[in-house]
Amino acid sequence: MAKLYVNPNNPKSKINKELYGNFSEHLGRCIYEGLYVGKDSPIPNTNGMRNDVVTALKEMKLPVLRWPGGCFADEYHWMDGIGPKEKRKKIVNTHWGGVVEDNSFGTHEFMELCRQIGCETYINGNVGSGTVQEMSEWVEYMTFSGVSPMAELRKENGHEEAYTVNYFGVGNENWGCGGNMRSEYYADEYRRYQTYVRNYYEDKKIYKIACGPNADDYEWTDTLMKIAGKYMNGLSLHYYTVPGNHWKHKGSATQFDEAEYYLTLRKAFYMEELIHRHGAIMDRYDPKKKVGLIIDEWGTWYDVEPGINPGFLYQQNTMRDAMVAAINLNLFNKHSDRVKMANIAQLVNVLQAVILTEGEKMILTPTYYVFKMFRDHQDATLLDSALATEEIGMEKDIIPNLTESVSRAEDGSITITVANLSLDTTYPIETVFAQAAPDTVTGTILTGSMTAHNTFDAPETVKASDFADTKLENGGITFNIPPCSVISLKVTLK
Ligand code: AHR
Repeated sequence: MAKLYVNPNNPKSKINKELYGNFSEHLGRCIYEGLYVGKDSPIPNTNGMRNDVVTALKEMKLPVLRWPGGCFADEYHWMDGIGPKEKRKKIVNTHWGGVVEDNSFGTHEFMELCRQIGCETYINGNVGSGTVQEMSEWVEYMTFSGVSPMAELRKENGHEEAYTVNYFGVGNENWGCGGNMRSEYYADEYRRYQTYVRNYYEDKKIYKIACGPNADDYEWTDTLMKIAGKYMNGLSLHYYTVPGNHWKHKGSATQFDEAEYYLTLRKAFYMEELIHRHGAIMDRYDPKKKVGLIIDEWGTWYDVEPGINPGFLYQQNTMRDAMVAAINLNLFNKHSDRVKMANIAQLVNVLQAVILTEGEKMILTPTYYVFKMFRDHQDATLLDSALATEEIGMEKDIIPNLTESVSRAEDGSITITVANLSLDTTYPIETVFAQAAPDTVTGTILTGSMTAHNTFDAPETVKASDFADTKLENGGITFNIPPCSVISLKVTLK
């Protein structure tokens, strides 16, 4: 019997709801078709946004959305995407498939999408090919409520009131697609650009995010913190879980064996080392943890589905992805003293998407259900917890069998999320609470074979269902967690 110890009397950091954020880029069918179909589409929509997708995202409680990229952000000129649609510039999306970008989804449409979902906004500005003036005017356009050229332009384009920009990213991957800069050079550029990301609000502040490292580039973090640390609220980190050893052979999203399953999960756990090591560098410059580590791109990255434009990054999503999501979300919760936001890549139809669409059809992926099952952690307080684990896996790909995190919401209820990563073993778990006993428990489970996934013909092969197989006994909760499953429990204490 694996013991899960929970100490409700040892509250730790707040789990920012933003850890459950998503990312949406002008890439493949994420924005166009996935989110935005235009007012005249036969697909049911409100002001051009798909009703089915918006409803599902509200259910999942999406807290924050990053836009417009990604690599696209450092080529995006925001003025192309405002004003009458028929006059908007048509450009080539050079990064992603070479397709025509007609700019029919721009700033106003993004703000409208976030309004409908009820989520916060995270705008990523252009450093790589944009000017300081362009970035500064975008901020003025979106956020200034007084009289100014950009505020007037926004009003002429139909929006009287200033929009709320919660987060602003100053460039994306500037060590790569965002300009191939050296760390010292970008750090200085960051200092300059962010100066003009003015705060026009009286009652709130824009949270400024500097471009952080690519995975294990610790030198980048060190340089950024040293040169620009005091000018930033957050530093980003990008890390993708790629099973293959070469970018040309990343592995299939749906056809893989057990060895590849454990390999993928072992690579997902690498996120913990990255958080520890980047966190340790940040601690040297910022011991009070004022600067957030913002993991604004994470998730699995496989070979594109056969027959699809390779630049569209469209991939299926199986129970393996659900496990990767559970590993990461439990990790983010446990490190919520430093990790202040995370945005899985990407929201719809791209990489580890929570939703896939095909014309008017929509499916929810196993990853969607994990986000939904974890949603009560949002803005809750992390509790001290420890679970006795065993090592499982194959050859060099050894991982813990179970992963968990526990939090307490403001109303006192406790959320426990546990994943069993084993493909063949059911584990009995006994949950024990220090100086407390459970009163009620309800649960949800997501389970299936490692390759199980939903398709447009069979949309409900994998879905979360009620889990009532729990026993309140000896002052604790016991339950069995089947192989390849995620369970979330909602507990009240006596
Ligand atoms: O998410 C796809 C791409 O991955 C993003 O555009 C880029 O930032 C990263 O390399």
